Amino acid sequence: MTVVNSPSGLSQGVKMQTFQAWWVPESGREDQGGVQTLRIDDLPAGDVLVRVAYSSVNYKDALAITGQGKILRRFPIVPGIDAAGVVVASDQEGVTAGDSVLITGCGLGETHDGGFAEYVRVPADWVVPLPQGMSPRQAMALGTAGFTAALALIRMEAAGQTPALGDVLVTGASGGVGSIAVNLFSNAGYRVIAVSGKEQAEGYLRGLGAAEVVSPDALGLSERPLDRARFAGVVDNVGGPLLAGLLPQIEEYGNVASIGLAGGVKLETTVMPWILRGVSMLGISSANCPRPLRLESWRRLGGDLRPQDPEGFVTREVELDGLRDAAEAMLARQVTGRTLVRVGGDAVA
Ligand SMILES: NC(=O)c1ccc[n+]([C@@H]2O[C@H](COP(=O)([O-])OP(=O)(O)OC[C@H]3O[C@@H](n4cnc5c(N)ncnc54)[C@H](OP(=O)(O)O)[C@@H]3O)[C@@H](O)[C@H]2O)c1
Repeated sequence: MTVVNSPSGLSQGVKMQTFQAWWVPESGREDQGGVQTLRIDDLPAGDVLVRVAYSSVNYKDALAITGQGKILRRFPIVPGIDAAGVVVASDQEGVTAGDSVLITGCGLGETHDGGFAEYVRVPADWVVPLPQGMSPRQAMALGTAGFTAALALIRMEAAGQTPALGDVLVTGASGGVGSIAVNLFSNAGYRVIAVSGKEQAEGYLRGLGAAEVVSPDALGLSERPLDRARFAGVVDNVGGPLLAGLLPQIEEYGNVASIGLAGGVKLETTVMPWILRGVSMLGISSANCPRPLRLESWRRLGGDLRPQDPEGFVTREVELDGLRDAAEAMLARQVTGRTLVRVGGDAVA
């Protein structure tokens, strides 16, 4: 493909160039989504055209592909909330053809054609330069999951969390966000208790740094407004009754990063943990994270928080035509760690 400096200066030939994407025709017809041929000209307007090397499957993507959650908010659309690759053309100073970049959230794959495609075109302020020495493949091994786990750590530490306060519990630990959170918190000096419903994930989670691996049933969840304080912090991917049962057991001035809803969106609780123990509930919202915090989180993921082996989180790799199987497996709770999507692959990078 011809490398040009500006999308608006794209030659007619490039605009007409075709590429492959997972395409969902309309709301309620997610079951008819599949790999289709699109043209560059079909992509939404944006300052930066990126050739995608890798994407990844997050829980939100699994809901979008299967239609089990109302994630897609414009039709037709290409889903995929993550993408990493190389800039092909840019209208924006500071972003240049040949740059290695990543995009997560910001509406990608929800309101704007997303990363399950050989090309994405996005506004320049969605684009994050790849951290030094991090390949597109490694970036997508982390993806939204790694970014979100890093946000949890950064926000909890900003609220006073330290390893000296005590153990940090990670729920939904064998999933994408959970696995990376276990590793990041353990690397940062925390004693991590991984909570997982998958017995077979114990070895994997200990390998990532978990000091203990427990099943949710073995936690002794509380129905009392306050109970014996046992945990200094929680990184929660599950929500619902599991989160509600943990809140009465958080130490004074501990923090809870509320990330996920895999176990339910309703939270039945009392104000007691906040008003009698000073517990803080920190909302983590990666998609609309303010840009300075977004850049800071990726800078740290490429620096002091950098996992020793980002690709070690990847337990499954698919191409675009494997997306439906991967999404169904994720929602059936059969997946451990991260699912990488090879789009253009290393040939792009
Ligand atoms: N707030 C944000 O910005 C943000 C960003 C990314 C993800 N999320 C949310 O965070 C959660 C994790 O995302 P992910 O991409 O890591 O997904 P994932 O890889 O599927 O991990 C989810 C994990 O939650 C546990 N789980 C699944 N179904 C469950 C159920 N019915 N009841 C209890 N636990 C269940 C499982 O862990 P075990 O089998 O080990 O128990 C599963 O591995 C999702 O709810 C997702 O929507 C939020």
